[in-house]
Amino acid sequence: MTSRPKYFVHSYGCQMNKLDSELVESRLLEAGYEPADTEGEANVVLLNTCSVREHAEDRVWSKLGRLRVRKRKEPELVVGMLGCMAQEHQRRVQARMPHVDLVVGPSAFGDIEKKVDAARAKNSVVAVDDGVSGDSIFRNVRVRPHRSQAYVSIMRGCNMPCTYCIVPTTRGIEISRPMHEIVEESQRLVDDGVTEITLLGQTVNAYGRDLGREFTLSRLLRELHAIEGLRRLAFITSHPNFLSAELIDTIAELPNVSRYLHLPAQSGSNRVLKTMRRGYTVERYLARAEQLWAKVPEIELHSDFIVGYPGETEADFEETVQFMERVKFAQSYVFKYSPRPGTIAADLEDDVPEHEKARRNQVLLALQEKHTREKNDRLVGQTLEVLVEGDSKVEGRMSGRTWHHRLAHFPANDPALKGQYVHVRVTEALAHSLVGELQPAPALS
Ligand code: 5AD
Ligand code: SF4
Repeated sequence: MTSRPKYFVHSYGCQMNKLDSELVESRLLEAGYEPADTEGEANVVLLNTCSVREHAEDRVWSKLGRLRVRKRKEPELVVGMLGCMAQEHQRRVQARMPHVDLVVGPSAFGDIEKKVDAARAKNSVVAVDDGVSGDSIFRNVRVRPHRSQAYVSIMRGCNMPCTYCIVPTTRGIEISRPMHEIVEESQRLVDDGVTEITLLGQTVNAYGRDLGREFTLSRLLRELHAIEGLRRLAFITSHPNFLSAELIDTIAELPNVSRYLHLPAQSGSNRVLKTMRRGYTVERYLARAEQLWAKVPEIELHSDFIVGYPGETEADFEETVQFMERVKFAQSYVFKYSPRPGTIAADLEDDVPEHEKARRNQVLLALQEKHTREKNDRLVGQTLEVLVEGDSKVEGRMSGRTWHHRLAHFPANDPALKGQYVHVRVTEALAHSLVGELQPAPALS
């Protein structure tokens, strides 16, 4: 075969995984691989996997089943499992899935192209944790899916003891990236046309704990905020325990920091929070939120909730409903509890029946939808700044994100708008997005 080998990467799970996939792709491109338009025409198919819930894993197992069938016909095909499941299930994969050539955990992506080369040369490669931090991947800032937006990983792993969560096992202990490295990478991204940066970490606001007292997310935000040309700066995901007064003051002072904060509460019942070992109470969460709103009244909170955690009673669940009513999040993800082998909670009886988990899930989703819609309704008639991401699913429309991370659609068909900041006057509020009209030029940037 004379043409260059083609790869296709499937990404499952969180934003961190998507960024990892981006970095993997950039390594492969630099090594002479070519992106395939479809999985069917790829010579190398990589699944960057997630272990956080069983459902995410099931999708990967069935995908691997389908790839096994394809590989029978195309023995040259290279199949790789990357990410959290690779870390978690390496033995199972090796024993039961001989058609998987490559098993690489999230901290061993540093030289992924060499591993793929080796797999193509037919040495099956298993590299689960070779101690190389994924952050050692040299980032070619020019290789990225969006011209104006970029994610920057500022830390890896998690040190929190949440009983239900597999992340500390699969991604390891918390390691913060040196601040100068983050600033330098961000500067290079901005020099290359990026105007919006989202910093990533499992507990992003705990950044720097392992580096020394002077390194905090607040200081990092201030340094990045000074980069000329950077118009939006966001960070996900924050933990309620590390929402310090200093961070609140910093957000208030820096006008280019986005006005949404992903601050997962997980539950509104103190009893459940305690058994989850989240380390805060409902009262403490609310007090922090009040402090935040006192200084930054326009900021909106986003949350994650888990329903059906072992022992969650109807009364506990009702407390979560009341809590949601009190805070009125702009957006929430709601998950049915899924026992993860090896976690502390896996030893507890998974005693909330599936149909009850489903019901609680529906109740919270409906309540969240109501709150989102109420907030969206209030925006009708207002003109908002939108960073255009591209074509919307509806033909003849484009879409982008507001300052609060809301999706906004508007009639337009101009590729030159992609990556630009425009003004959109909101005409209609939907449950999960806004519809509006592009205000006449001049565009803002
Ligand atoms: N079951 C269900 N949801 C979970 N999450 C993490 N672990 C589990 C689990 N075992 C959810 C939490 C977290 C989000 C990323 O996933 O809400 O914030
Ligand atoms: Fe998991 Fe808790 Fe760490 Fe979030 S803070 S990644 S839920 S252990």
